[in-house]
Amino acid sequence: MSELLKLGAPNERPRAPKPGEVELNFTEQGVAELEALVSHYPNKKACILPALWLAQREYGGYLNGPAIAEVAFRLGRAYAEVEGVATFYTLYNTAHQPGRHKLELCTCLSCMVNGAFDLRDYIREKLGVGHGETTADGEFTFEEVECLNACNRAVVMQVGDEYYGPLDKPGIDALLEKLRTSPENTVIKYANAVVRVQLRKDEAPTA
Ligand code: FES
Repeated sequence: MSELLKLGAPNERPRAPKPGEVELNFTEQGVAELEALVSHYPNKKACILPALWLAQREYGGYLNGPAIAEVAFRLGRAYAEVEGVATFYTLYNTAHQPGRHKLELCTCLSCMVNGAFDLRDYIREKLGVGHGETTADGEFTFEEVECLNACNRAVVMQVGDEYYGPLDKPGIDALLEKLRTSPENTVIKYANAVVRVQLRKDEAPTA
């Protein structure tokens, strides 16, 4: 991947990856959906954000180097440009493969005064993970996040495309048990939900 970052001689603008420099792992459905998404925008650059959601789904919830390179190739943009966009937004998973469920607990003001720090410590102890870490069994990734814009439901946690709150310790226990026994991968489900909204196939996820 570092070769894609070097991108030609000094002072040259970064170039898009060429065929043979990237792995192409999008499914046929993914390729067709990307073409449809691109048609909604005036140019391919404007389609980077939805294309990254699509790639996040196609790559199992994780935008690793090959995923970013494939988006760059398919949109004809430089790897560095697409990576810069992907790493700017915390909604994209660029640091490591997340667990099957990403637990995003709000610890901002309204949630904090309603006990978010206690719940944060409870979850961390129960799962044995810190901020940004994933349980050894690959089930849960835990993150503290800023306001989820659902302060009337404090303490709130986002899991995939669903919000849960107001939460307390028994509520956390029940939610973790529900998620553990669910067959869904809520990280992939969330990415797919965003793609479907972009394709005008569903209504926007509700909080
Ligand atoms: S402070 Fe937690 S949702 Fe707003």
